[in-house]
Amino acid sequence: MLEKLKYPALRDAYDIMARASAVPLWEIYDRLVSDQPAVHGAPHLWHYAQMRPLLMDAGTRISATEAERRVIALKNPGLDRPGIAQTLFAGLQLVMPGEIATAHRHSQGAIRFVLESTGGYTAVNGERCEMRRGDLITTPSWAWHDHENTGAGPLVWLDGLDVPLVNFFGAKFAEDHPQDQQPIDRQPDDSASRWGAGLRPFHGQHATPASPVLSYPYATTRAALERVASSDAPDAHHGWKMIYTNPLDGGHILPTIAAFLQMLPAGFRTRPWRTTEATVFAVVEGSGTARIGDAEWTFTESDVFVAPNWTWIALEAHTDCVIFSFSDRSAQERLGIWRAEEN
Ligand SMILES: [Fe+2]
Repeated sequence: MLEKLKYPALRDAYDIMARASAVPLWEIYDRLVSDQPAVHGAPHLWHYAQMRPLLMDAGTRISATEAERRVIALKNPGLDRPGIAQTLFAGLQLVMPGEIATAHRHSQGAIRFVLESTGGYTAVNGERCEMRRGDLITTPSWAWHDHENTGAGPLVWLDGLDVPLVNFFGAKFAEDHPQDQQPIDRQPDDSASRWGAGLRPFHGQHATPASPVLSYPYATTRAALERVASSDAPDAHHGWKMIYTNPLDGGHILPTIAAFLQMLPAGFRTRPWRTTEATVFAVVEGSGTARIGDAEWTFTESDVFVAPNWTWIALEAHTDCVIFSFSDRSAQERLGIWRAEEN
């Protein structure tokens, strides 16, 4: 653990400390506390054109039942363990026509952002949430969830989970539902009707820190963004960008994960910004160039890229773009450690 010593003359004392399971803080202080964050992981982009054939091949070789979840995880090449970032897990999940992914729950919270759909849904806590391209569905910690493809084509979405965070805390639990598919005992749009229509139930409280709204359809979010874009000038660092919110307090959708939708007009270049959060982007519409730290790529629809923490982010739209993103900002804000810097 102690390689280059600041005070080599004290090595004999350090050796005795080591045998007592102790370490001199003055030798390791700079590793623990520094004036700038260490960056965890590398910027990386996964082209959907490259990933889709891998998914479809998996679709012919392993069933959703065999796999339990047919997910190709996006592994950050700069990290030595699974995860798209130090704090976040992301994967592309495929459910083939007629297939189900059986019901289970876990202490890790999840979001799903739909990339390809001809019909299908995620059931969450007894409610069927339809999955159309661009829809965002949340699965809060310990919520039962299962998936079904009711369409004629593949159903593909981007999974985002707080797995590294929850596992780091040592709070990892999971359970299978006794039935393959949980009973549906709520109307479609039940959660949005109770909590997301500018109303909330007269009686009762929502008990968890996650948003009680389970589904944020693209038809609604895109229309909202477009209306804002038609009247406001684009922000220099973000274009037109909005935050998916918990209607109870205006906060983020999950206690660990925040999500965003932004629009950039053709030709627009954002000024660089960086933040302590790690962010995963998924391109919904359009194409452009992303500059993340020293990396630069051209992106197009359904491509996914990651910006690690404290890494400069600049986006350039070649055509009108709509970009979804999610990050660990919600957890960082709750802990009071979130910071950002604009250039
Ligand atoms: Fe799950």
